[in-house]
Amino acid sequence: MLKIAILGLGEGRSTMSAALASSKLELVKVCDRNEELCKQRAKEFDFHSYTTNYDDLLNDGAIDIIAIYTPDHLHAEHVKQALLHGKHVVCTKPFIDDLSDAKELLKLSEKTGKKVFIGQSSRFFEPAKRQRADFEIGLIGDLITIEAHYHADHRWFLAKEWSLLESFKWLYGGLSHPVDFIRWYLPNIEEVMGYGMISNNGKGAGLKNEDTMHFIFKATDGRIARVSGVYTSPTQPAQRDSGMSTILRASEGASQADYHELRYAVTTKTGEEKVITWGDSTLKHYFRFEGQSHHAGEYQNYLEYFVDSIEQDFTAYPDMKEGIGTVALLQAMDKSLQTGMPVKIADVLNEYGL
Ligand SMILES: NC(=O)c1ccc[n+]([C@@H]2O[C@H](COP(=O)([O-])OP(=O)(O)OC[C@H]3O[C@@H](n4cnc5c(N)ncnc54)[C@H](O)[C@@H]3O)[C@@H](O)[C@H]2O)c1
Repeated sequence: MLKIAILGLGEGRSTMSAALASSKLELVKVCDRNEELCKQRAKEFDFHSYTTNYDDLLNDGAIDIIAIYTPDHLHAEHVKQALLHGKHVVCTKPFIDDLSDAKELLKLSEKTGKKVFIGQSSRFFEPAKRQRADFEIGLIGDLITIEAHYHADHRWFLAKEWSLLESFKWLYGGLSHPVDFIRWYLPNIEEVMGYGMISNNGKGAGLKNEDTMHFIFKATDGRIARVSGVYTSPTQPAQRDSGMSTILRASEGASQADYHELRYAVTTKTGEEKVITWGDSTLKHYFRFEGQSHHAGEYQNYLEYFVDSIEQDFTAYPDMKEGIGTVALLQAMDKSLQTGMPVKIADVLNEYGL
C-alpha cells in the first residue's frame, strides 16, 4: 500500500480523515509547525505520528506521497522540496499564487518523473462526478456554453486579520472552484473580461479587494462561458439555489450540479427530465464532522484516484499543467479587474515564458 504524509493540519484535518478511512493508502506521518494543532489532531484521530518539521517528512524514505495544505504562498516551495526528495505530490488548490514559479516546477516534475496532482476538490463531489459522467457518455450532446458560480456569505471570514490585508483576494480563494469547472469543460479559454467591486458590507469591514465579481470567457473555438462570485451578502435558501453550481447547456440537453445540496438535474437528449439527490450514506461519506464546512469525502475520492494513477501509471487530472492553466486564468481575471479591459491568457503565459 502506498504511504502518505500530510503537511498543514488546518484543512489537512479533512485529509487525515480521508487517508485514515481509505483502504488504498496508509497514513504514516503528519506535520504542522504549530505543535498544539498537531496534538489536537493526534487526539481527534488517535493518530500520534506527528512532527513540527517538514524535513522529517522529506527525509523519510518510506513516504511515497506528500499532501500539501499550507497557505497558498508557500505551496511552490513545499512542492519543490517534495519533488527534490523524490515524493509524489498532492497540492491543494490554488496550485501556486504566482506564475513566476511555474516553469521551474514543471521542469522539476519532468526531471524527477514524480507525479503532481492538484486537489480541486469540487470535481470530486457526487453531483460533479455524475454531471461529468453524463456529459462524457453524450447524454446532453455537444457543449454550447457553461455557467458556474460560487456564492457564500463569508462575512464571518472578515474577522480574520489576514482577510483585510492587501494580499487577500477572494478571486483566488473562492473563484478557483468555479473557474476550474469552466476549464474542465472548456480548457482552451483565450480571453477573459470582468467587473468587480467591494460591496458596502466589505468596505465597512475594511476589505481591500473585490468581494463581488462577474466574468465572461471566450474559448479559442468561439464558445463562451461565465462565472461569478459574491462573498459578503446573504444567500438564497438552499432549496431554491445552491452556493456552488455549474450549468452545462448543450446541443441536445442541459445539466446542473449543485454542490453542498448533493443535487443534480438533467434534461437528456430524449427530453427526459431528472432531478437526483443522494441519501444518508453518501452524505456521511462527504460530511464527517461539524456540518458541511469541510471536504473529507471529496479528498478521499481524489486521494484514491491519485493512488490509482501511480499504481496503474496514468495521469490524474488536474495535473500540474492544468493547475498552472487555472492560475494563469485567475491572473488574467485579476488583470481584467484592474484594467477594465479584456485580457488574453496567452499574454499572461508569455509574460512568464510558459
Ligand atoms: N476545498 C478545498 O480544496 C480547500 C478548502 C479550504 C482550504 N484549502 C486550501 O488549503 C490551504 C490551507 O488552508 P487552511 O484554511 O487550512 O489554512 P490554515 O492557515 O488554517 O492552515 C495552514 C497550516 O499550515 C501550517 N504551516 C504553515 N507553514 C508551515 C510549514 N513550513 N511547516 C509546517 N506547517 C506549516 C500552519 O501552522 C497552519 O496550521 C490553502 O491553500 C487553502 O486554499 C482548500
